[in-house]
Amino acid sequence: MDLNEQNREQWVSRVGFILAAAGSAIGLGNIWRFPYITGTGGGAVFLIVYLLAIFFIGYPIMVTEMTIGRKTQRNPIGAFKALAPNSPWWLVGALGVLSGFVILSYYSVVGGWSLAYIFKAIGGSFVTGTAFDELFIGQISATWGPIIWHFVFMAITIGIISAGVVKGIQKSVQILMPILFILLFVLVVRSLTLPGASKGVAFYLRPDFSLLTWRSVLNAVAQSFFTLSLGMGAMLTYGSYLSQKENIPDSALSVVGLDTLVAVLAGFAIFPAVFAFGFDPGAGAGLTFITLPAVFAEMPLGAFFGFLFFLLLSIAAVTSAISLLEVVVAYAVDELKMTRVSASIIIGLIVFVVGIPSSLGYSVLSDITFLGMDLLDTYDWISNCVFLPLGGLLTCIFAGYVWGSRNTAEEANKGEGSFKVGDFYSILLKVIVPIAIFIVMIFGILETLNAHFEWGLPFF
Ligand code: TRP
Repeated sequence: MDLNEQNREQWVSRVGFILAAAGSAIGLGNIWRFPYITGTGGGAVFLIVYLLAIFFIGYPIMVTEMTIGRKTQRNPIGAFKALAPNSPWWLVGALGVLSGFVILSYYSVVGGWSLAYIFKAIGGSFVTGTAFDELFIGQISATWGPIIWHFVFMAITIGIISAGVVKGIQKSVQILMPILFILLFVLVVRSLTLPGASKGVAFYLRPDFSLLTWRSVLNAVAQSFFTLSLGMGAMLTYGSYLSQKENIPDSALSVVGLDTLVAVLAGFAIFPAVFAFGFDPGAGAGLTFITLPAVFAEMPLGAFFGFLFFLLLSIAAVTSAISLLEVVVAYAVDELKMTRVSASIIIGLIVFVVGIPSSLGYSVLSDITFLGMDLLDTYDWISNCVFLPLGGLLTCIFAGYVWGSRNTAEEANKGEGSFKVGDFYSILLKVIVPIAIFIVMIFGILETLNAHFEWGLPFF
């Protein structure tokens, strides 16, 4: 174990840190959500807006979060307290810890579905087309099955986090991330070599600007936050285990690049196959869990490829879930002086319990809705449309004006590296990013209210 003066663990290598941060970023957001919002958002046009959001909004925030973490060597709450003592800025860290808690609670439910589907694929339910029904229909199985899988998923997450930063997080990502890349590569090759695959490629890459809507711009910016694990101190916490020798602008660029690569490749694994068998790419949230099993049922050796796909999805989900739990555990260890093992178990179990209603939202609690959304979508909406943008916005204002963009840039640029941030970064941090996030947050909330209450506002 590598400890610094404060007896805090540190990543043992630069690659270890990049893989851990990329593991956090690459998750359900890339493989489950990105393809379906691209599918409903018009394909290629959506991709263009998304890439702009990633590089001009996501990247500067990632550099900022990692820098605050490395500078203070603390959890999000402790970090803001250290940089701005006796001020209410620590509340931004508290919002982050709360968001980590809420996101993990439903993220783990979806991660549990993914684990369940690995076994459904092996058991042949894709071929008979019953995977979805087996998991979600029928009073008893639909109530308990997903909860048990949610529990299994949380148990894996707790197991890794309780083992520590180096022996838990770093060790697991060094094993799992290479497997993830190999699986994705195999699936992309399989999908692209199916007869009829080219229609899917055309849909994905041919921009049709008439499909560009406010909704897809909002989705693209919100997705850039979620997919890069920003706005709640996850990258801040991972940065807090980084040594002063590492250059942050370089590392963050690798993380952003890997995350984007995986999202784009996930589209190549999914769309050609969906088109080859004549399914609808715009199926929405059910694309992964309803459309894809049907696609695998048609495909030669579909059970095998279905197994590989859900293994990929589960690995991606676990390496992200650990970063969410780590934020809350780091807080409990630093500030509440709990041991890592007890903090992991206690917090993990509370998260499991908090997640149960979002699982039951598909069975016994399906009557409960908020603004027309089921419980899981409600948790997801509050975190993605309110908590994460607010956290990102306040982090930018803090770094840009309170700590100062010059201090932030200077701290980020410490260490050897080929790429440094400068004046353009300061302008992004102080002006462009906060304005962009503010607009997107307000419009996002208005859009949802407008659709639900049928206000008939212009623009939407
Ligand atoms: N980025 C992950 C994904 O795409 C999810 C995630 C992990 C996350 N940690 C986060 C999202 C922190 C927001 C904040 O699936």
